[in-house]
Amino acid sequence: MKHMLIRLSRWATLSRSAHSAIRSSSTATAHAKHDQRALSPEEVFSREERYGAHNYHPLPVALHRGKGVHVWDVEGRRYFDFLSAYSAVNQGHCHPKIIAALTEQASRLTLTSRAFYGDVLGEYEEYITSLFGYNKVLPMNTGVEGGETACKLARKWAYGVKGVPQYQAKIVFAQGNFWGRTMAAISSSSDPSSYEGFGPFMPGFELVPYNDVAALEKALQDPNVAAFMVEPIQGEAGVVVPDAGYLRKVRELCTKHNVLFIADEVQTGLARTGRRLAVDHEDVRPDMVILGKALSGGVYPVSAVLCDDEVMLTIKPGEHGSTYGGNPLACRVAMAALQVLEEEKLEENAAEMGKLLRVELNKLPKEVVTQVRGKGLLNAIVIKETKGCNAWEVCLRLRDNGLLAKPTHNHIIRLAPPLIIKEDEIRECAEIIQRTILSF
Ligand SMILES: Cc1ncc(COP(=O)(O)O)c(C=O)c1O
Repeated sequence: MKHMLIRLSRWATLSRSAHSAIRSSSTATAHAKHDQRALSPEEVFSREERYGAHNYHPLPVALHRGKGVHVWDVEGRRYFDFLSAYSAVNQGHCHPKIIAALTEQASRLTLTSRAFYGDVLGEYEEYITSLFGYNKVLPMNTGVEGGETACKLARKWAYGVKGVPQYQAKIVFAQGNFWGRTMAAISSSSDPSSYEGFGPFMPGFELVPYNDVAALEKALQDPNVAAFMVEPIQGEAGVVVPDAGYLRKVRELCTKHNVLFIADEVQTGLARTGRRLAVDHEDVRPDMVILGKALSGGVYPVSAVLCDDEVMLTIKPGEHGSTYGGNPLACRVAMAALQVLEEEKLEENAAEMGKLLRVELNKLPKEVVTQVRGKGLLNAIVIKETKGCNAWEVCLRLRDNGLLAKPTHNHIIRLAPPLIIKEDEIRECAEIIQRTILSF
């Protein structure tokens, strides 16, 4: 026993000195010690400010943990999460089934790359393609990679199937679109804060006004158009809902002109708007669907492009891919995340709770909130800007009252809680929003 204790204490000493050898400087050790105590919110803000790129402007709240519809800050204050990480956390924070899938697979096999076959990818591919009714899926990681993949597939299809002359293919987008921050994504953006200062831009992209059937019809007459890529509801633009019938008309026009209809469902898909996909509201089937965000329930970057063989098989081995795309961890997490949406009937809940939320929001004074819009649990209120009252100020007061939301533009606040939210919680949150608005 004594021997064992000595050996153990030697091991501990050794292990401690090995650790300090790894830490290259005394500063690193000091930081490690510093990390062990809880930081104040101000320390959290200033550390990020000092060491991180300034490419975001977060609301000043320092979060530490999340469960279901709630998140807690470093001082233990609880908030309703009404952003859901831009609709990635549809299933609620740290959903036990998704976390179990993550940890179980993480201790077995995480990544092999696509240089080899694995025993999870095919299971996931079969599951997701049957669920959505497409021949094939191409797995990627982030939403913007899904968009890039869809654009590449559209160009390949244009040359190989439609017969567009080499490198003349065009992709049409809607003004106000947002699909990420890569060079291709910003090249199709109409928002100067996305593209200004980053040119030269990707050629072959065109814009038409959103929700404008006549403009789309005109654009699609060009025989070199490969695809029209569109969000069924524009999320980042401020939850802009098109007229009823728009998506049906998009389907009709794309079919008529032999143009691919690409639905960017990264934010609107996966039960967020009260249907599995937002295009389901109009019973239309796009040629390609891009999914991301909630495809992992917020625990891991997972995205996907779904389409049929005519399009998908235009890309051959070696022509597209990603080291992490389709890895076993991602596949297990995505299957669990999709199962949660189905098992917990989150589309039905989103539809019902969304209706209730909008009824409550419509009671807000019209002098401050000029419009309430949305579908399911993807909603926004439009604020009448006055001195001292803009969307940012409202979000700060909402935070003080225990609810986190983020402005999109100066006068719009998106309200998108996790889809597991219950009726009494919606009522409580509506009361917080009302109290906040009335304080202006
Ligand atoms: C509609 C839409 N498409 C694509 C993206 C890009 O997703 P990611 O940030 O995961 O690249 C976003 C992100 O907000 C989005 O809202």
